[in-house]
Amino acid sequence: MNVDVLIGMQWGDEGKGKIVDYLAPNYDIIARFQGGPNAGHTLVVNNEKIVLHTIPSGILHDNTYNLIGNGVVINPITLCKEISQVKSWGVDVEKYLLLAEKAHLILPTHKVLDAASEAAKGKAKIGSTLRGIGPTYMDKTGRNGLRVGDVLTPDFKEKYEKLKAKHLQIIQMYDFEFDITEEESEWFESIEELKRYTIVSGEYYVNNALSQGKKILAEGAQGSMLDIDFGTYPFVTSSNTITAGACNGLGVAPNKIKEVIGISKAYCTRVGSGPFPSELHDAVGEQIRSAGHEFGATTGRPRRCGWIDLVALRYAAFLNGVTQIALTKADVLNDFDEIMVCDTYTVNGKVTNELPFELNDDIQCNYKGFKGWKQSLEEASYDSLPSQLQEYVSFLESYMGIPVSMISTGPEREKLLIKQAQLV
Ligand code: GDP
Ligand code: IMO
Ligand code: MG
Repeated sequence: MNVDVLIGMQWGDEGKGKIVDYLAPNYDIIARFQGGPNAGHTLVVNNEKIVLHTIPSGILHDNTYNLIGNGVVINPITLCKEISQVKSWGVDVEKYLLLAEKAHLILPTHKVLDAASEAAKGKAKIGSTLRGIGPTYMDKTGRNGLRVGDVLTPDFKEKYEKLKAKHLQIIQMYDFEFDITEEESEWFESIEELKRYTIVSGEYYVNNALSQGKKILAEGAQGSMLDIDFGTYPFVTSSNTITAGACNGLGVAPNKIKEVIGISKAYCTRVGSGPFPSELHDAVGEQIRSAGHEFGATTGRPRRCGWIDLVALRYAAFLNGVTQIALTKADVLNDFDEIMVCDTYTVNGKVTNELPFELNDDIQCNYKGFKGWKQSLEEASYDSLPSQLQEYVSFLESYMGIPVSMISTGPEREKLLIKQAQLV
């Protein structure tokens, strides 16, 4: 069997959690492959909402196993809090959650380093979620990190102290005040708690499952424009958020990957600093933010809002090998007279559909306008979309050369219009 991959095509928060939760019953295993508690994936089921940061979004379904893959960075404290929340939904987490032994651990001092580094950057700060993501991946590639499997070794505490001492030396450079006493004891308590869960070799788990004919969905975090290699560097996260990250982050070979579901909002948002060519600084942007409740699921920060950017979306499509698009939050545009789509950029006086090296102020977005549908989508089906929405979706499909297989019309699990032929 194969692995399908689901990724964000913009700057994160595209609605990945909702779509994974909907698709989960079609799979045996849902696996996160990168990122960590910087992610916030929202699921709305039976009028109740849950935000998952580290646990894969298949956890609310019976008979679906959820793997936190080796490419993820784990904060034991956050994970334990999340586990107890999920347990309160009646989920048998001990049975359905698995941790890859090669996943790296976020230490309290990683969070301090993140905060100190951001403070030192001043105006040039990344706008990090301050969850310690960057410093933890730095220790991974710097070959200093602590991994989940280390917690089962007798000298774990010494390994921890050694890494902490290194961090304290670096923090001295920053002249940054902090106190991690309480957090540290909670961290060790959480480590003990995590020992009760199943720690596996993620790569054997996944590949054995594939040989047994099991179906796996790899759940991306963040979005393609936040990818460490291809995003709007340096205003990015510290992992490969694109499909390729699923190979490293789970130990699956590229030829095992089949469908790639790319998620995009019907407009665009970004949280944190960095370029966003189609950002709206006016009342229309404000209208999108308020209609879409665009406030971060992890930090509560207001999200910057703008029109959909097809230049960036096309870039994301080929980087990821997207085979079908799920268009989310279409309902947010229900009341708009006109919907704009950025289909080219003008860079230094030249019109292009390619991203330049840097997305700076020299970029101007060129827009094509579409009539708004000005009606609720509550009663719509994929085959009976309002004609204006149909026109918008058809344009998207022909521009991208990729079918829009799903249109999401609300936060709830069931608010999804499906193009039957494209179902995974
Ligand atoms: P993720 O990080 O990609 O999983 O997305 P987030 O959960 O951070 O942000 C998406 C937000 O939009 C959440 O509050 C979801 O409940 C909500 N949402 C998802 N799909 C839809 C939709 O189709 N319409 C509306 N109105 N809200 C949606
Ligand atoms: P999900 O999975 C939106 C952004 C941060 C910041 C930059 C770097 O919910 O889509 P980091 O904490 O990784 O050092 O922050 O990336 N960012 C996200 N934006 N959604 C996310 O995750 C994000 N994870 C990180 O705001 O600009
Ligand atoms: Mg999110």
